[in-house]
Amino acid sequence: MEFSRNEIIDILRDDSQNDWLFSLADETRKKYVGDEVHLRGLIEFSNICRCQCKYCGLQSTNKSVERYRISPDDIVLYAKKAVEMGYKTIVLQSGEDEYFSKDIMCDIIKRIKESDAALTLSIGERSFDDYKAFKCAGADRYLIRIETTDRNLYKQMHTNMDFDNRVRCLKDLKKLGFETGTGCLVGLPNQTVESLADDILFFKEIDADMVGIGPFIAHPQTPLKDAKNGTFTLALKVMALTRILLKNINIPATTAMETLNPNGRIIALQSGANVVMPNVTTSQYRKKYEIYPNKICINEEPEHCRGCIEGKIKAIGRTISKDYGFRVL
Ligand code: 5AD
Ligand code: FES
Repeated sequence: MEFSRNEIIDILRDDSQNDWLFSLADETRKKYVGDEVHLRGLIEFSNICRCQCKYCGLQSTNKSVERYRISPDDIVLYAKKAVEMGYKTIVLQSGEDEYFSKDIMCDIIKRIKESDAALTLSIGERSFDDYKAFKCAGADRYLIRIETTDRNLYKQMHTNMDFDNRVRCLKDLKKLGFETGTGCLVGLPNQTVESLADDILFFKEIDADMVGIGPFIAHPQTPLKDAKNGTFTLALKVMALTRILLKNINIPATTAMETLNPNGRIIALQSGANVVMPNVTTSQYRKKYEIYPNKICINEEPEHCRGCIEGKIKAIGRTISKDYGFRVL
């Protein structure tokens, strides 16, 4: 199914057809990517960040965060343990932490790639050269959300960043042959449904291989502390439309969805999503990676999350993939 920009806007505005929308997204998911759910083992390896994204709890100006950096040796260890637990993809995510230079990252990538797993990076804006080196070292995928395609809103939210550079990053990553993931926040202050429609069309235009969508959740130690949260339903609708328009891509049921709805990830898996990214670090780090408040699983250990999510996925008649979970053709 194809929708025009105006149709997308109408669908986003009108909640009376939501059941139809979510069913259509679920059917599209089943038709193009099947019933398998891909689990990606997420390692949040540093919460140190040079950026000042207004919505994010880890922004450099937040002095209340206890900062941590997991050593390269321990990152590799966590990754190996996750592979032993059955994960076929490892995701390394961090703030924009300059300690993790091109060389240090390449060393980590090479060591993790000795295990039998695909590797995804989510470490922010870098130069073409850095991305190229990461690819040569063996990284398979890269996530960098555009956050919003509304240039004005982007500027308001990221005072020390540049929208065009973010787009440049996405284009470089595609050019280098990464499976490239992007996505947006839903419910930012001053965000319009028109701009959300443009976000979805942008994902299609750049031919994103993965798209992660989550509601904005106000963090008490940020300039947006008094802003209203995004809603679960609108985030789910943007995700469902993304599935319907982009068809065969990978779409995670994001953790932020579950923060706003106790069954959020399962509902997302039944409305277009086919990926879940459980945390595979120990609980000592989890509470310190507080991008937004009330993140789920912060007191859990890796084995618990694996069992928990497997049980939930099987209970809705879906299976856990034993494959790497690259984008299907
Ligand atoms: N609420 C929801 N999601 C957030 N992110 C950052 N801050 C928040 C927040 N307050 C998302 C961004 C980023 C991803 C890692 O987390 O979209 O790309
Ligand atoms: Fe972590 Fe359920 S996935 S407790």
